[in-house]
Amino acid sequence: MESVTLTDRQMQSFRAELLSWFTENARDLPWRRTHDPYCIWVSEVMLQQTRVAAVIDRYTQFIHKFPSLVSLALANEADVLTLWSGLGYYRRARMLHSAAQLLVREHGGSLPKSSAELRRLPGVGDYTAAAIASIAHGESVAVVDGNVERVMLRLTGAEVGDKHLSATGLKEIASRFLAPDAPGAFNQAMMELGATVCLPRAPLCASCPVQAHCRTRGEHTARPRKQMLSKKINYALVRKSQEGNGNSTAVLLARRPPSASQMPGMWELPGLPAKGEDGNEPILRVRHSVTNTNYYVGVYAMDANNASQLAGSLSHVWISSKKLHEIPLTGLARKILMRLDVLAKPRQVRSGKALPGSPSIFI
Ligand code: ADE
Repeated sequence: MESVTLTDRQMQSFRAELLSWFTENARDLPWRRTHDPYCIWVSEVMLQQTRVAAVIDRYTQFIHKFPSLVSLALANEADVLTLWSGLGYYRRARMLHSAAQLLVREHGGSLPKSSAELRRLPGVGDYTAAAIASIAHGESVAVVDGNVERVMLRLTGAEVGDKHLSATGLKEIASRFLAPDAPGAFNQAMMELGATVCLPRAPLCASCPVQAHCRTRGEHTARPRKQMLSKKINYALVRKSQEGNGNSTAVLLARRPPSASQMPGMWELPGLPAKGEDGNEPILRVRHSVTNTNYYVGVYAMDANNASQLAGSLSHVWISSKKLHEIPLTGLARKILMRLDVLAKPRQVRSGKALPGSPSIFI
């Protein structure tokens, strides 16, 4: 911790420079237009391990469907998962839902205010508790996520492998930097700096508002890149037209077992039988990354008359393409069905009533 060498005065100018940069440069994100702690909670849970660009639409749809903590608590889990589709890490959605139910049962349907109490909720760790408490309630508590960690290491010159630099050490450094009179804005500014300027591999030091205070100017040992595994996976797309239902089609889907360790109960395309590739060209190839695995996916059209060849075919279900947006699809199934125009892409529409956090919704 000797590496933190800013004097009190330097610290004050660091805070002022960072905050004024944030005021000028903050991205206009829907959850930044609200002070509703529930909306901030939803956004912070979605933002864990997920890029801002992927969260914007999902957040807007989610808040439109569940505008309050009580409405989320009353929802059924399948509807919550449906709106989470594409964000991955579905356990976060289940925990958010069960925490909302617990708060309705035991806390009068509102979120606690302090980070210490928030931390006791299912799915709320240090990071999320600090983010909600500082942004929604101005509690003076520092947020340390991956972006903030990188910014702190570069600023102070501490090394990733530094024996003295535990998670608590980082939190302590971040707490010293924190602006006590504007903790919410400061925390968001640090995260924003990490996400847009102090980038992992090519930091934009020339545009950095706190470059003068930085020990390393980006020259520090980065965390080693995580090793990605590659897996190949093939699916069958089986469709039939539905008589008496306009010109809509139905698609054959499989439900993952409720006991599956990943994405239990969610819907996906049936797996292609072992020899299904032979002599056939896929109608679609996509790459899909989940944590440390890149899936190289082939999708093959299959005649509905041959569908009985599919493994587990007895448990497959025809779902009307009009109903696809009502069931919890895995992110990959959603991506495939959208790319193949089986599932309509979300359409941006104006909402008649003001949404907490955003002027427009997607349906
Ligand atoms: N990443 C996660 N939460 C964030 C926030 N509130 N502002 C900026 N980046 C974030």
